Amino acid sequence: MRAFLFANPAAHSRSPAMHNAAFGVAGIPAVYETRRVTLEELPAAIASLRAPDVLGANLSLPHKEAVLPLLDELTPAARAIGAVNTVINRSGVLVGDNTDALGLAKALIDCGYGAGKSYLDSPTVVLGAGGAARAAVYALCVLLERNVYILNRTLSRAQEIAADWHNPDADFQVVAAQFTEIPWSEVSLIVNASSAGLDAPEQSPLPGIPALAPGALVYDMVYKPFDTRLMRDARAAGHRAENGLGMLAQQARLAFVAWTGKDVPIRVFLKALNAPVPAAPVPAPEVGERSG
Ligand SMILES: NC(=O)c1ccc[n+]([C@@H]2O[C@H](COP(=O)([O-])OP(=O)(O)OC[C@H]3O[C@@H](n4cnc5c(N)ncnc54)[C@H](OP(=O)(O)O)[C@@H]3O)[C@@H](O)[C@H]2O)c1
Repeated sequence: MRAFLFANPAAHSRSPAMHNAAFGVAGIPAVYETRRVTLEELPAAIASLRAPDVLGANLSLPHKEAVLPLLDELTPAARAIGAVNTVINRSGVLVGDNTDALGLAKALIDCGYGAGKSYLDSPTVVLGAGGAARAAVYALCVLLERNVYILNRTLSRAQEIAADWHNPDADFQVVAAQFTEIPWSEVSLIVNASSAGLDAPEQSPLPGIPALAPGALVYDMVYKPFDTRLMRDARAAGHRAENGLGMLAQQARLAFVAWTGKDVPIRVFLKALNAPVPAAPVPAPEVGERSG
C-alpha cells in the first residue's frame, strides 16, 4: 500500500518520518512518499490516488485549496474551512478532509488548554488569515466553542474570514480586529497561524506581548525553529508557550487513522518528529567537474 505527500516544495517534510514509523508500529505493509507536484500536475496526481493500492495523500502548499474541485466528497470540516490537507481513497471515491483543525484542538488540549473553568468565557485570538488561520478559526469556534478575534497584517483578509463566519444567531462569534480593539487582558489563548517566525528566529507576528488573562497559552503553529521569537516573548511576559509540533503530530495521526482504520500512540509521531533529520545526500559531481 502507498500514501503520499503532494506539495511544492516537498523535500523537507517530516511527514514521511511520522507515517512510515506509524506503519511500522501498526504492522501495515505500506510506504509514505513525498512527490513534488506543481499546480499543473495536480489533477493527474489526484486522479492517481484512485488506484486500489493507494490509501490516500496529504496536501501542502500550494494545493490545499486548489484540490477542492478534484475530489468526490468533502468532510464538514474541509467544507467549512475551504481547504483539504488529507485525501482518503475509499474504494476509488476520493474524500477530502482537513485534519489541521482537529489536530490543533487536540494539541491545545494536550497542552492543558481549556481545562479550567476560567477559560469558558474568555476570547481567543488567531494571528494570520491564510489556510492555517481558517483551520484555527474552525478549531476554536466550532470544536472548542470560543469567541475568536482574527488579527492579520492585511486587515481585509481577516475581514473576509469573519464575513464567511458571520452568523448573529451563533453562540460563538468570529471578528476581524485591529491590535488596539482586542480586550487582551481577557484573552486566554493566542494561536499564531501566520507564517511570521517561520525560518526567521527573530521575527514575530506581534510587536510585543500584551498582558493576557492569568494562565494564558500562546500556541505557535510554527515549529521551525522549535523556539520562536513569539514563544520567547510570551514566556518572558509570564505566559505559557508551545510550538506547533504537537499539532503537526496530531494532524498526521488523524490522517493515519482515516487511511488505515488503525490508531497509533501520539508518541510514535512525536518521536519521529524529534528524531534527527537525515542529512541530504551529497549530489554526485557532474562528469568532468573538478573537485577541490
Ligand atoms: N503545526 C502545523 O501542523 C501547521 C499546519 C498548517 C500550517 N502551519 C503553519 O502555519 C503558518 C501559516 O500557514 P498558511 O498555509 O496559512 O500560510 P499562508 O496562507 O501563506 O498565510 C500566511 C499568513 O501569514 C501572514 N504573514 C506572513 N508573514 C508575516 C509577517 N512577517 N508578519 C505578520 N504576518 C505575516 C500573512 O499575512 P498577509 O495576509 O498580510 O499576507 C498571512 O495571513 C505556516 O508557518 C505553516 O507552516 C503549521
